[in-house]
Amino acid sequence: MNSHAGSSRASAVAHANFALVKYWGKRDAVLNLPDVGSISITLDALWTRTRVAIDPALEHDRFELDGRTDGVGGDRVCTLLARMRELAGSAARARVSSTNNFPTGAGLASSASGFAALVTAADRAYGLGLPPERLSALARIGSGSAARSIFGGYVEMHRGMRADGSDSVAAPLAEAEDWPLEVVIAVSDRRRKSVGSTEGMQRTAATSPFYSAWVANQPADLARAREAIAARDFEALAEVSEASALAMHGLAMSARPGLLYFNAATMECLHRIRQLRAEGVAVFFTVDAGPQVKAICGPAAADAVAAALAGVPGVTEILRSGLGAGAACVDRETARPT
Ligand code: DP6
Repeated sequence: MNSHAGSSRASAVAHANFALVKYWGKRDAVLNLPDVGSISITLDALWTRTRVAIDPALEHDRFELDGRTDGVGGDRVCTLLARMRELAGSAARARVSSTNNFPTGAGLASSASGFAALVTAADRAYGLGLPPERLSALARIGSGSAARSIFGGYVEMHRGMRADGSDSVAAPLAEAEDWPLEVVIAVSDRRRKSVGSTEGMQRTAATSPFYSAWVANQPADLARAREAIAARDFEALAEVSEASALAMHGLAMSARPGLLYFNAATMECLHRIRQLRAEGVAVFFTVDAGPQVKAICGPAAADAVAAALAGVPGVTEILRSGLGAGAACVDRETARPT
């Protein structure tokens, strides 16, 4: 093994993504292989910027998130860096510093943008030059949803069949510009969730009597969403996305002990969004492992949706985003793509 002559560094930006057809459940916890495929949209307004600096003088990898060195996820960062070092034939450790422009671990997909940015920067810093599908497979080891943030726009994560995970990767379905939907996020609790996605889905798979039905139903929902995206059929995408989000939460509630990610404001937002749609507004919801509600809407509806959700008791903040690009290396000073 080389010990990496000289130090090399790179910075990358990756955006958060929200699943419309949800990932919930693993078939292999070590390689982090999903039990179901998923379909997501990548956002442009929520991002992680990560810098990887190789330093042969270090004994261990160092990881800093938003200026803190005690951050959650440090073990996964080290596991991923060890794999990338192996591919590069290098023994040199790295200093990783990462910034999120949104709350970490509150159901806003910080692990997705975080690990996608990490593998993209580490790929450049270690001189690997891997293609996007290989970066997607590596990001998946950090977090299943991160495999999708390698790509922009509309993205499908494939469950895959192989035991080594080489076909458990994401691939683009359509570009952001092909169908420029908008996302309005109603934040009602910025705190880190009490049961993270990894633990939540493991508990669900181990204890829910409905887990096998969830897995069996997923291919049909994926097909519906794929078709809706190809046809730009908003109603069809709304129907399958809300069904998938509610099924995931119903499933999580059926774990023992049951997982409750909703608060009162979450429920109120879901009713508001259904009401708006009944009045003819092009909007639907999705919710991840936290109480924030994500309303996906046509650009013409975004102002009305934001105003309606801002008026829901318990909603403390509204974030807005368009759809965005995949992960890319950037200049650290100018943040321009390199
Ligand atoms: C509810 O990707 O965070 O957001 O693979 O264990 O890191 P790990 O889980 P993670 O789970 C995401 C769950 C979800 C749904 C989704 O994004 O598909």
